[in-house]
Amino acid sequence: MLKLENAVLVVWAVALMHGVAQAANFSTVLRNDYYDQTCPQLESTVARTSWYKYNNSAVVAAGVLRIYFHDCWVAGCDASVMLMSTDTNQAEKDAQENLSLSGDGFDAITQAKLAVEEVCPGVVSCADLITLVTRDLIILAGGPRYEPLYGRLDGRTSRAEDAIAVLPRARDPMDKLIANFASQNFSSQEMLALLGGHTIGFAHCSEFDYRVYNYSTTSKVDPILNATAEESMFGVCPIGVDPLIVGNLDNTTPEDFDNAFFHNLQNREGVLESDQALFEDPRTRPGVNAYAANQTLWYRDFVATMMKLGTLNVKTIPGPDAEIRRDCAFIN
Ligand SMILES: *[C@@H]1O[C@H](CO)[C@@H](O)[C@H](O)[C@H]1NC(C)=O
Ligand SMILES: *[C@@H]1O[C@H](CO)[C@@H](O)[C@H](O)[C@H]1NC(C)=O
Ligand SMILES: *[C@@H]1O[C@H](CO)[C@@H](O)[C@H](O)[C@H]1NC(C)=O
Ligand SMILES: *[C@@H]1O[C@H](CO)[C@@H](O)[C@H](O)[C@H]1NC(C)=O
Ligand SMILES: *[C@@H]1O[C@H](CO)[C@@H](O)[C@H](O)[C@H]1NC(C)=O
Ligand SMILES: *[C@@H]1O[C@H](CO)[C@@H](O)[C@H](O)[C@H]1NC(C)=O
Ligand SMILES: *[C@@H]1O[C@H](CO)[C@@H](O)[C@H](O)[C@H]1NC(C)=O
Repeated sequence: MLKLENAVLVVWAVALMHGVAQAANFSTVLRNDYYDQTCPQLESTVARTSWYKYNNSAVVAAGVLRIYFHDCWVAGCDASVMLMSTDTNQAEKDAQENLSLSGDGFDAITQAKLAVEEVCPGVVSCADLITLVTRDLIILAGGPRYEPLYGRLDGRTSRAEDAIAVLPRARDPMDKLIANFASQNFSSQEMLALLGGHTIGFAHCSEFDYRVYNYSTTSKVDPILNATAEESMFGVCPIGVDPLIVGNLDNTTPEDFDNAFFHNLQNREGVLESDQALFEDPRTRPGVNAYAANQTLWYRDFVATMMKLGTLNVKTIPGPDAEIRRDCAFIN
């Protein structure tokens, strides 16, 4: 059982693709060697801060992955998710309680930024740091290794209503989830591969405990739920549970970035109803079975989709709406 302030509803995204090229040909602009001349110490510097955070608390990996998804899905990968609300503007990160993001996850990016500013001030964007810290933490959690692309600039606006409008929700039905991902050119297979990231995810009891207390007018408990998972939900979320309590989305190996999440779905042990629906729905069940049978296949699709996600509506030309922020929480 975990208790986190501002914990996270972890719902992110996707995968299968043939090559990595997308939403507006940005992959030709983003490059892995973008900072080779201007900040050669980038990756080694961030590797230290990422390790420090992960060693302190492994759940930071899920928190940062959620931040990465949220940042890219809402108005592009431009670190708008890190901007603070002001007197006159409610920012994305404060969109609503249920979509709240992990404070520790934000701190992982902030610590990376502070360390990088020491070695190459004013050079590396917060948006690129979100990408890099996410990559580092996935590796630390035992997941696939891949080379991130860089060259994103930071945006100068962040609006709660944008987040509310576009983020998927844990209780959305499958048709709505598929349409949500399709709206940003992600197939249901890509959605599935990305949602596999729930292998290290967690969610507030309020996102799933209705499945054992108040499922429907005819059944108190969700009839599809495996008895093992049912017991576990009662344990994690007793009646009257503190609203800050969260439960793991992969009860088998919650800290390992492995494909156990897909095995759990086959066993009807998915925690979120929308995760379990990935197995129940004929459109995504073959993918669940394929990823459960072959972790390498899932890793391949997960990485491809993460790269695709990282290209969404990126800003690459400095201007009135794009800059390299000095402090990730505030525009310059
Ligand atoms: C949509 O996604 C596919 C698969 O990743 C990609 O090949 C295609 O270029 C994308 N289309 C646009 C308009 O981004
Ligand atoms: C991407 O590149 C192709 C081929 O060069 C071009 O036809 C297309 O318009 C470009 N898409 C965007 C959104 O710039
Ligand atoms: C990792 O965490 C342990 C305690 O959780 C601590 O003793 C150790 O010093 C940490 N290592 C690093 C390198 O921070
Ligand atoms: C947010 O969570 C609360 C319980 O914490 C619930 O009552 C409410 O319906 C949820 N709102 C949305 C939009 O899901
Ligand atoms: C159970 O769900 C119904 C309908 O969604 C709701 O009106 C009722 O308040 C819920 N009861 C509890 C105990 O949560
Ligand atoms: C319930 O989960 C167990 C593993 O915990 C599995 O062996 C069993 O087959 C599952 N039951 C169903 C109906 O899927
Ligand atoms: C698993 O998937 C990988 C990547 O597609 C493939 O190369 C490999 O042959 C697959 N393994 C099996 C046992 O099917």
